[in-house]
Amino acid sequence: MDDVLRRGWRQFAAFSPGPAKDVRVFFAPGRVNLIGEHIDYNGGHVLPAALKEGTWVFARSRSDRMARFASFNYPKVVVAAIDGLTYRTEDDYANYPKGVVWAALCDQMPFAGADFLFVGNLPSRAGLSSSASIEMATALAVAALSGSAPSRLQLVKLAQWAENAFVGVNCGIMDQFAVGLGEAGHALLLNTATLDYEPVPFQTGDYRLVIVNTNKQRGLADSKYNERRAECEAVLAIVRDRMPAVRHLAELSADEWERCANDVESPAGQRRGRHVVTENKRVIDAAAALRAGRLPAFGELMNQSHLSLRDDYEVTGIELDTLVQAAWDVPGCIGARMTGAGFGGCTVNLVHADALVRFRDEVNRRYRDATGLTAAFYVSEIGAGAREVTEEARA
Ligand code: GLA
Repeated sequence: MDDVLRRGWRQFAAFSPGPAKDVRVFFAPGRVNLIGEHIDYNGGHVLPAALKEGTWVFARSRSDRMARFASFNYPKVVVAAIDGLTYRTEDDYANYPKGVVWAALCDQMPFAGADFLFVGNLPSRAGLSSSASIEMATALAVAALSGSAPSRLQLVKLAQWAENAFVGVNCGIMDQFAVGLGEAGHALLLNTATLDYEPVPFQTGDYRLVIVNTNKQRGLADSKYNERRAECEAVLAIVRDRMPAVRHLAELSADEWERCANDVESPAGQRRGRHVVTENKRVIDAAAALRAGRLPAFGELMNQSHLSLRDDYEVTGIELDTLVQAAWDVPGCIGARMTGAGFGGCTVNLVHADALVRFRDEVNRRYRDATGLTAAFYVSEIGAGAREVTEEARA
């Protein structure tokens, strides 16, 4: 058994004494977004993939309408009555599972309380969706302990709603979707306007998916995320004056956008709109390139995506830009971009297997010189979506 799980069982037994047979274990992965950034709240296409790393939650039912939350990474046990849950800054990560319990009760799930222990191997606040991973693992646990059988999509929506309405981050649906519905070895081409999706085999031959962490933490809630979202809504309102039938910015073709762009007075608004429209096209082209095995074309679209996020959407910063520029300069790296919300967090790179050592050394050296920080490197694989793992966890 994995060390993480062994420690989990031990710690759970101390935290929540009782028969081991009543304990259930659920896993939800993190995700990396390959391309399609900041357009899931604009009705665009995105191409994320679930990781192998993620969050396990050990859970045991209670009948006293209390919930207790413990974690390897947080010293305090958070205890709360499940009726009347509220967001409390001092509860830290536990606000995510509290939000899911709150959302499940609003949804009339017959949940009566539980002890939860979270263990994980994802870097937190690094743009790899550790929060969506906690939310989806909790959502599976709460549904299972309640004896409810909602569809996977209902749980994805419940987790997103917990983050929007309870935590107060106006995120789109991409993260919870990728974490909840990911498939091993596949990226998901998701149309966020319709929620139609298609798993696209992620076959990269001699190239590896390398995630590089800036180790500059970013908080989604206190970043400019909600501000960007509001800017896009303002641009959409202007577009609708001319084209009332438009529902989402990302549905505009390049020509349609050209016709509307001059109506948007603010230069920043024009840049935001241009990012949304061009990024949506890049995602569709990238999925086609991946299906056809045209990896260099896929990598080039990743590069273009980064430039657009840097210059038009303005969500990068010195850490991400330095990592990406250094990556572009290493022979054998065919694509590099920031991933996730930006302002810190991680980059995602496609690097030839023979160039991995040089990539790590050169990128890290340039990053240290420019920022004084040390980056972390992970060669990643695409794993499956959230699931119950009680039997595997006992083995
Ligand atoms: C965060 C949000 C997502 C998405 C990305 C940016 O990860 O949770 O919904 O908007 O940022 O693409």
